[in-house]
Amino acid sequence: MPLVSMRQLLDEAAKGGYGVGAFNVNNMEQIQAIMEAARETKSPVIVQASRGARSYSQDRFLYHLMLAATELYPEIPTVLHLDHGNSVDTCKSAIAMGFTSVMMDGSLMPDGKTPSTFEYNVKTTREVVEMAHAKGITVEGEIGCLGGIEDGHGAGLDGLSHLTDPDQAVEFVRQTGVDALAIAIGTSHGAYKFTKKPTGETLKMDRLIEIHRRLPRTHLVMHGSSSVPKDLQDIINQYGGKLKPTWGVPIEEIQLGIKNGVRKINVDTDNRLAITGAIRKVFAEKPEEFDPRSYLKPARDAMKKVVAVRMTQFGQAGHAGDYAPIPLADMARRYEGRGMPVVSSE
Ligand code: 13P
Repeated sequence: MPLVSMRQLLDEAAKGGYGVGAFNVNNMEQIQAIMEAARETKSPVIVQASRGARSYSQDRFLYHLMLAATELYPEIPTVLHLDHGNSVDTCKSAIAMGFTSVMMDGSLMPDGKTPSTFEYNVKTTREVVEMAHAKGITVEGEIGCLGGIEDGHGAGLDGLSHLTDPDQAVEFVRQTGVDALAIAIGTSHGAYKFTKKPTGETLKMDRLIEIHRRLPRTHLVMHGSSSVPKDLQDIINQYGGKLKPTWGVPIEEIQLGIKNGVRKINVDTDNRLAITGAIRKVFAEKPEEFDPRSYLKPARDAMKKVVAVRMTQFGQAGHAGDYAPIPLADMARRYEGRGMPVVSSE
């Protein structure tokens, strides 16, 4: 099966009431780990690459590895998604390369750091939506800025001002026509999200529930959703690593999100931890080894295990065979006719 539209995967997830993990990749072993986990659990899957991943893999290596994935795993509906596109041009180049979904993160300026204005965000995102939908490609937008609450992001105010404002979210979706909306509820990228198990004060699930109430037909996206499990931290530290104690997003909070409109869950850090722990273990236990396969294979197996568990926890397991892919040209016609395909989010 060719690479498919993310919109179709998310529409199906909404109908089925489950979430779909979006796993970041940079290389062949990570793609193989995800595809093996998808086959084992019979899951549709979103594979995503950031700008950094595209430059690391020179883009074309990544794209051709993904084509290999669709050839070798033809039964798995697979999306290739651009994570955090920083400009219209970045999204344009991803679409030209063959990505079937792009994120235009206009919540930040093109430097990827400076918060933008609502007007800038709407304008750039709308431009990407028009360009992408004409080709049947899905668009994810973001409103509010990712970042922790306890670390004083938005300092000087109440530490909450970077979170998504529900009124703005409604207006943003209306003005842009995005297929999926990333919201900021106190999560952040990386291993250091929370200094203790998050509570309603640091992880604002009530905000997410309110946004879903206001936008019941919009697919919500949770970024920074690694759970940073203690066992993966422990393996790294046991074999010479130096991670400080830290907490991620508990699975039960993600599952609460899935009950409230979350359809895409971004996970990168948990896989990085699994890979690093497995490699450190081989280096510590077998210092005589120098064949890269001796550590890359356990690393790939460790990542596959984490991904398979997440696929089951998010509920996408068992759904790979539910539907036939809609060709991108047909998706383009649907966008033209109705603005968006009809979604049932209940
Ligand atoms: P984590 O760092 O929590 O895995 O988040 C990844 C992410 O949101 C990529 O966009």
